[in-house]
Amino acid sequence: MATASSPAISASVLPLERHEHWSSRLLFILAAAGSAVGLGNIWKFPYIAGEHGGGAFVLIYLVCIALIGVPVMMAEVLIGRRGGQSPIHSVRILAAKENRAAFWQIVGWIGCVGSFLILSFYSVIAGWALIYVSYAFNGVFDTLASDSAKDAQSIGNLFSGLLAAPGTLVTAHTLFIIMTVMIVARGVKAGLEQAVRIMMPGLLLLLIILVGYSALATGKFGQAVAFLFQVDFSALNWRGVLVALGHAFFSLSLGLGVMVAYGSYLPRHISIAKASVTVSILDTFVALLAGLAIFPVVFAHGLEPAAGPGLIFVTLPIAFGDMPGGLIVGTLFFILLVLAALTSAISLLEPTVEYLTEHRGIKRLWATLGAGMVVWLLGIASALAFNLWSGFTVLGNNIFDALDFLTANIMLPLGGLLVALFAGWVMSRSSIQEELEMGNTVGFRLWRFVLRYITPVGVMIVFLYNLT
Ligand code: TRP
Repeated sequence: MATASSPAISASVLPLERHEHWSSRLLFILAAAGSAVGLGNIWKFPYIAGEHGGGAFVLIYLVCIALIGVPVMMAEVLIGRRGGQSPIHSVRILAAKENRAAFWQIVGWIGCVGSFLILSFYSVIAGWALIYVSYAFNGVFDTLASDSAKDAQSIGNLFSGLLAAPGTLVTAHTLFIIMTVMIVARGVKAGLEQAVRIMMPGLLLLLIILVGYSALATGKFGQAVAFLFQVDFSALNWRGVLVALGHAFFSLSLGLGVMVAYGSYLPRHISIAKASVTVSILDTFVALLAGLAIFPVVFAHGLEPAAGPGLIFVTLPIAFGDMPGGLIVGTLFFILLVLAALTSAISLLEPTVEYLTEHRGIKRLWATLGAGMVVWLLGIASALAFNLWSGFTVLGNNIFDALDFLTANIMLPLGGLLVALFAGWVMSRSSIQEELEMGNTVGFRLWRFVLRYITPVGVMIVFLYNLT
């Protein structure tokens, strides 16, 4: 723990008692996948793929996951397990070990600020899903989608009516924050682990049912497959590449230290490489399933693929209204979507709460309540961005779009870049090798090469092209 660059640091790098651990390898994978799989896969991926023309965007997204996402995820988890503390302190302690300045703890701070900002609008979208649970359960889709000539329109009106109701949006957002706080306050084992056990398998099953419906009942499955997988680069510009890159980070929960925090609860002798690859594959699989469920409905009803953030809320209800047993499938689907959002939301709150409890001596309950309050307040701005405050814009975007752009397309790639540089260039090769337990294998050398060169250069090129 030798020489630190300032007294403040040397005091805080004293080894802490190591904290709670995940109960098993499977539960770590479930929790990390629970964080990764969320609104990003089901709500965001289809609508940004639609906005950026489909195939070429999807291809670039997959390349970003493989070349940038997976290596950075391994880096985050290993930093967490080696540091064994909150992201801010894990990075600080490891930087001090290598005699590097305290600069690197900026990674942790970007994480705290970024995750608050994301959670604030994330919760508003999760609120939409919450309201849709009650629509589905009360048979609203059945009634509206009974007249097939007009179903797309009346389902669309239902959604725009919701956006125009600030009170309902804020109430749903409030409920979602309360649920998040209640889980996080209970800690890793009692809270986070229980939530992911049921959610993941259930969500996969329902998505597969939906894809089955879209494949058999819409007659547009082929067109959807072509839209998602036929690569046409003329449909993609550099802004689209940035969005794909940003979304690779968003979807895998990278760039904000969330995986550092989860890694800090990871017991030894679990292969970080295998766990990261498993989580990334699962996450990608869910996003592609969501795309395959949604686009056939889009084409079958003449909807616009580039409809924006409302896409799943104006397409899936048509399917639920139309299919036999749609009331049950629809209700279950939106319940699982809320749960998927919840297991992601808790991961956005966890690093800050971990920091407040371990290093500020605040009780877990109070830390969670305090952090939840701040996020709740911020989120109200996003809820109002769709109605009362829609006239208020930043560079032509409403508050919601501006926050989404700032976090997903700037903060996450920047945070990921810093993580790659830290693990690739600052941490010693020997300590990394020890943590990854991979020896000097081809896999290890390949990972390190990609992390040191490909990841940083890739992120910087995309940034530069977007500045010009
Ligand atoms: N990955 C989640 C999703 O796809 C969102 C999320 C959770 C996230 N934790 C994160 C995004 C940390 C960025 C950083 O819905």
